[in-house]
Amino acid sequence: MADDKAQIGVYGLGTMGSALALNMAEKGFRVAVTNREVEWIAEFMKEAGDLANALVAHDTLEAFVAGLKTPRVILFMIPSGKPMDMMIEAVAPLLEDGDTIIDGGNANFHDTRRRSAALAEKGLHFVGMGVSGGEKGARHGPSMMVGGSDHSWAQLRNVLRAIAARYEDEPCVDHLGPDGAGHFVKTVHNGIEYADMQVIAEIYALLHYGAVWPPAEIGKLFEAWNEGPLKSYLVEITGQLLQYHDPKTGHPVVDVIKDAAGQKGTGRWTVVEAVRMGQAANMIEAAVGARSWSSEKDTRQSAQTILGGARGALEVDAGTLSEAFMAARILCYAQGFRVLAATSEEYDWTLDFARIAEVWRAGCIIRSALLDDISEAFRGELPHGQLILTPRFASRLTECLPALRKVVGDAVAGGHAIPALSAALQWYDTMRQGFGTANIIQAQRDFFGYHGFERLGEEGVHHGPWWD
Ligand code: 6PG
Repeated sequence: MADDKAQIGVYGLGTMGSALALNMAEKGFRVAVTNREVEWIAEFMKEAGDLANALVAHDTLEAFVAGLKTPRVILFMIPSGKPMDMMIEAVAPLLEDGDTIIDGGNANFHDTRRRSAALAEKGLHFVGMGVSGGEKGARHGPSMMVGGSDHSWAQLRNVLRAIAARYEDEPCVDHLGPDGAGHFVKTVHNGIEYADMQVIAEIYALLHYGAVWPPAEIGKLFEAWNEGPLKSYLVEITGQLLQYHDPKTGHPVVDVIKDAAGQKGTGRWTVVEAVRMGQAANMIEAAVGARSWSSEKDTRQSAQTILGGARGALEVDAGTLSEAFMAARILCYAQGFRVLAATSEEYDWTLDFARIAEVWRAGCIIRSALLDDISEAFRGELPHGQLILTPRFASRLTECLPALRKVVGDAVAGGHAIPALSAALQWYDTMRQGFGTANIIQAQRDFFGYHGFERLGEEGVHHGPWWD
């Protein structure tokens, strides 16, 4: 009976897929589910409890597809890359004109563009959807960034708006542009996430190694910051996790965690794309680089002996640190949005930056009080496309910059490693100099390679007197 058919299908019952399927079922949608390993399906249905009434489990891909209302909508929550290509190959022959396949993983947007184009030739629609917020977010309200056709958005809108996180009753999801736009916005979200996390880690290190504050005390400071303008999910969870003790040893739990960070690629893709677009998101690059260096633990341990690892004592003032943090956070978001703007122009996406900031205000990992101000700033005039030049942020930066300069200066003098905080200051100082250093670069290029340069106030290509 047509009425029994599900409104949406979720393929992939791992952590995120299960959570999203349950979220949809709870919001009253009839959801078909299946999984490559069929034995997971019964387990999932058992754990679904009462929500199982809204879920229809299938053992085969054929039955799953046949159990969906047409035009169909299928959300794939599977590992990105090759598995997605294999899945598309398997499912496409079972689909019909107007059906939509959604990739809800952290995919590279170039792959999403390629897949969209290939499926469009078969009359099928492909949506690249960034989903942020981890398992809890997926289950109770994620932030979602959708890229795809208007047709797919019309099919999906009701479900996604129902399951999304809400900021003052406004769902944190939107159709941001075609093909790869959603996945790219999620990629840059993660780039900002990397940089904000690194800034937090550096602030922790200055307090802990420079001012010898115990982790729990630093946790309390983060908790206090979370009541003010620095309020954000990452500040909140850092405040909490710093106060945990390891049950095995009784030490603060952060002291027993190996200082080697993982990374799956989205931070790196942001940097690669920034460079390709002629931008330099140096804070995000610093954060990606810091994770890479962190994984060279053995080398760093040897270097500490060979090169000396002493860090000087620091006198830190919590108020100054909080202002430095605010300056760095503004600069980090500004870099992320700049990369988005350049990419949007390259691919004709016409991204709505105010909307993106709004979609990030709840549910996602980088949600923070600042995003409300950012969305307002994007609704106004944006001089040279730069958030840092809007009146609101220019004046906030002017207020906070002395603190950033003091923190970076003291930390550098004391031999503390602060790649992201110092990158923030370097970007700021570079951008505020109307006359920079590139005259020397141009002279060198012309001197050794006859590359030519522009003269101030004159048209055309010129060469130096060294060629006369
Ligand atoms: C989110 C997160 C999430 C995840 C990424 C980043 O928005 O919910 O960004 O997608 O944390 O996988 O992971 P890595 O730190 O491993 O690159």
